[in-house]
Amino acid sequence: MSNLSVVVLAAGKGTRMRSALPKVLHPLAGRPLLAHVLDAARALEPARIIVVYGHGGQAVPDSFPDSGATFVLQEPQRGTGHAVMQALPHLPDAGTTLVLYGDVPLISATTLRELLSRPGALCFLTAKVPDPTGYGRIVRDAGGAVLRIVEQKDLNGAEQHIDEINTGVLAAPNARLRDWLARLTDHNAQGEYYLTDIVPLALQDGTPVVTALAADPEQTQGVNSREQLAQLERRYQRDIARQLMDGGVTLADPGRIDVRGELTCAEDVFIDVGCVFEGKVKLGTNVRIGAHCVLRDCEIGAGTVIEPLSHLTGARVGAGCSVGPFARFRPGATLGDRAHVGNFVEIKNAVLGEASKANHLTYLGDASIGKGVNIGAGTITCNYDGANKHRTVIEDGAFIGSDTALVAPVTVGRDATIGAGSVITEDAPPGELTLARGRQVTIKGWKKPVKQK
Ligand code: UD1
Ligand code: CA
Repeated sequence: MSNLSVVVLAAGKGTRMRSALPKVLHPLAGRPLLAHVLDAARALEPARIIVVYGHGGQAVPDSFPDSGATFVLQEPQRGTGHAVMQALPHLPDAGTTLVLYGDVPLISATTLRELLSRPGALCFLTAKVPDPTGYGRIVRDAGGAVLRIVEQKDLNGAEQHIDEINTGVLAAPNARLRDWLARLTDHNAQGEYYLTDIVPLALQDGTPVVTALAADPEQTQGVNSREQLAQLERRYQRDIARQLMDGGVTLADPGRIDVRGELTCAEDVFIDVGCVFEGKVKLGTNVRIGAHCVLRDCEIGAGTVIEPLSHLTGARVGAGCSVGPFARFRPGATLGDRAHVGNFVEIKNAVLGEASKANHLTYLGDASIGKGVNIGAGTITCNYDGANKHRTVIEDGAFIGSDTALVAPVTVGRDATIGAGSVITEDAPPGELTLARGRQVTIKGWKKPVKQK
């Protein structure tokens, strides 16, 4: 909307968080609370977004270098009305201003669009909640028209029972907002400039004051404590779990999955309990993820099985592979189709070709490994000489015996065999058996030492 300005209030102290981190930077699903609010704001395609920050100082704008938003400092923080005043220099005289809270992360663009369907009116998003304690209450006349909004600390006896609360989110016509804000006072229980006090000013003007009742009150919940943060995190994860299941994913327990980024799944994926997905993760058809795996920025091909307790970052795994349990992939790990990687194998910046196997206790770093290669237990690519990294090349069909150290740069030729326990420092020719280890000797007639008296 071309005439829409969004003002996000994010200057509050968040005292109950008991944290050095500004409240709006606490993560929900791996991203700051404020990032979620900015997403909802951007979905409305506003002409501008203004974030009012304060507590925590520069850390807030510094966390959003490419947001396109304007950050204005509110110092000191003298209430929600005072916060919106700080944004006034950036607001045009015409159009609508939408006020959001930086600590209300689950608000959806759909809900906000409803609020914006009454241009010219002052429109509040309200909610009916089981326990309204702490919220501003919507006071109406006998005919149901809004009269004012009263804060918890300013309530009189009868108003205590009102169960319709102010979520804090509102839309106001810029043409009037400036004038209303200029007339606010701090004559109330908290000595603050309440944004909600613009209601009687709007009514005096003849501006319609209307409300939109949130269909889903959970969306309008704010974060004041770590407990509330955890509740919203669960709610967010529950929604993601539902979307995954709708898309054809089986979750062993929808209450035990954490997606902190974008998880894209083809049909018939199975995800066991306790898995964490970060960044962009893509799972192909029939992929199975075992219990307690962590995957960050990975792509896993169709039919691949990741066994429990594997930790994969920046990996591309082909189709029909078997990985883990206890596998560790670091950035640049690439597996061809039908490759097998077993327990306690670490792979970094290395390609393990089609149908190749590294089943036990191995480090493969900075390596190019061809097809049909067998890497024996305990094989190590010695990629680092203390100053520089070097590559190991293992060609198709090679067999690396157990406990081999491959001192890079080094190449093992096609179909070569390396004897177990070798330290390979020079290229091993294709098709031949290469050994680099002491010969076995037997000392005939050797006597065990005996203990001296
Ligand atoms: C406010 C509303 C109340 C509503 C409640 C919903 C007012 C006067 N009251 O009360 O009607 O039910 O939210 O949660 O508007 N903020 C600033 N600068 C300030 C003060 C606050 O940026 O000087 C920001 C906070 O960071 C927060 C939001 O505004 O994101 C709300 O502030 P908070 O102090 O939590 O307001 P409440 O007293 O809870
Ligand atoms: Ca609050």
